[in-house]
Amino acid sequence: MVDFARYDVRNYPTLPVREGYEAWAPSYEATVLDLMDLRLAGRLTSIDWAAASPVLDFACGTGRIGQWMRAQGAGPIDGVDLTPAMLARAAERGVYRELKVGDVGATGYPAGAYALVTQSLADEHLASLEPVYAEAARVTRADGRFVLIGFHPFFLMAGVPTHFNAAPGEPTAIESYVHLTSDHVAAAGRAGWRLKEMVEGLVDDAWVAAKPKWEAYRDRPVSFAMVWEKT
Ligand SMILES: C[S@@+](CC[C@H](N)C(=O)[O-])C[C@H]1O[C@@H](n2cnc3c(N)ncnc32)[C@H](O)[C@@H]1O
Repeated sequence: MVDFARYDVRNYPTLPVREGYEAWAPSYEATVLDLMDLRLAGRLTSIDWAAASPVLDFACGTGRIGQWMRAQGAGPIDGVDLTPAMLARAAERGVYRELKVGDVGATGYPAGAYALVTQSLADEHLASLEPVYAEAARVTRADGRFVLIGFHPFFLMAGVPTHFNAAPGEPTAIESYVHLTSDHVAAAGRAGWRLKEMVEGLVDDAWVAAKPKWEAYRDRPVSFAMVWEKT
């Protein structure tokens, strides 16, 4: 892990995770594009979403991926997240069976209960990857899988942190760390996971159409999705 500050070229003011997402929650849905994570989820071939039951969604936030998974036929789905304001929006969607405030490293959900654990766009906020892989291994069945989708480390290394506008013209970053793919493989391996599938998303025409300034990042990897199975 390397602190994002090592790569920062924008030097936005930076908030701790819960404080940042409490402030971002009202505008979060309007700013995060499905291209970042849901398009990658749809490319995974080793997950039968319709057969995934039950599912636990780590760092579920406002429930974007929960809604997407329900639309694919997955469920029931439980969720856990550090930030009450994000969870309040997930609750409004009505797609989760149960939602808890908690940390992905110690969710309090029962051991061996889930066929699938998901986590989308949250690993960059974790100082260490060990707890999340260990907790995913604890709560999944022996044949369970863990889908982790993340903001690409190359994009963070280009100096772009996870950020939002706290007020018009006030970009604000949220505490972030850079984890290499090998950091994921090592932490996951120690928790008893092996990599089944991985896909990466590049900044392409669809991204540039949605965010014209991202022409500067065309063809760079912006996000990744990993499917882990138990060894
Ligand atoms: C970018 S949002 C992603 C939310 C949702 N998964 C999505 O894709 O829209 C990151 C979320 O991770 C949550 N988060 C960050 N660190 C966490 C931790 N250690 N435990 C639980 N949730 C965490 C934040 O509260 C926030 O809701």
